Amino acid sequence: MSKLLHIDSSPLYGASISRELTAAFVAEWKTAHPDGAVIERDLNAVEIPPLTAAWAGAAYTPEEARTEEQKQELALSDTFFSELEEADEWVIGVPMHNFGIPSVLKLWIDQFVRVGKAFTYADGTPRGLLIGKKATFIVATGGVYDAGTPMAPYNHIEPYLRSIFGFLGVSDVTFLTAGGTMALRYGADRGEFLAPLLQAVEARAGQAAA
Ligand SMILES: Cc1cc2nc3c(=O)[nH]c(=O)nc-3n(C[C@H](O)[C@H](O)[C@H](O)COP(=O)(O)O)c2cc1C
Repeated sequence: MSKLLHIDSSPLYGASISRELTAAFVAEWKTAHPDGAVIERDLNAVEIPPLTAAWAGAAYTPEEARTEEQKQELALSDTFFSELEEADEWVIGVPMHNFGIPSVLKLWIDQFVRVGKAFTYADGTPRGLLIGKKATFIVATGGVYDAGTPMAPYNHIEPYLRSIFGFLGVSDVTFLTAGGTMALRYGADRGEFLAPLLQAVEARAGQAAA
């Protein structure tokens, strides 16, 4: 049975463009996978603590030597990792905050990127262990950061996510970007703005069915 992991990270809920687009992806994916299952993970609805020395100590202690306290320390990390591992496909909503990813998304990444689980240095060189996954990042930005535009170098979302997920072994990565959502504040029509994006999102969600 196919499984999709649906991640959202915009605090704006009903007003959020990335949330509306990931929801459309999920709806289309469900149509294409009538027997599939969706794991929902709303990063704004769970408290994700920043990493601590105790967390790092637990992560670098071999599993069989961990104390009960250390196991507890890694419980949320284990949950996030299992969700990623269990799903074959991921759709991840990413609002741009201060030219980068939102803090809850970074906290989530910090939780599951663990040596021996998400990557290994066992043979002397780094090797990602999250292989065979299909990832779609749906990004929403107030301004426009298209390649070749003056603002393009300010977009730290795509380079960062490509680096970290590439490092973890994820090679099938697609970015769909809703650039210029700021226009909606100045009277642009939301339906008109979303129409081509919804088409691209649905095409990708359906394509993932193949
Ligand atoms: C805290 C905050 C920081 C933002 N920083 C930027 C930014 O650096 N560049 C930009 O183009 N838009 C920025 N925006 C606008 C958002 O990227 C835009 O509203 C986008 O639609 C967010 O995605 P969402 O609608 O899914 O929440 C920011 C918005 C918020 C709330």
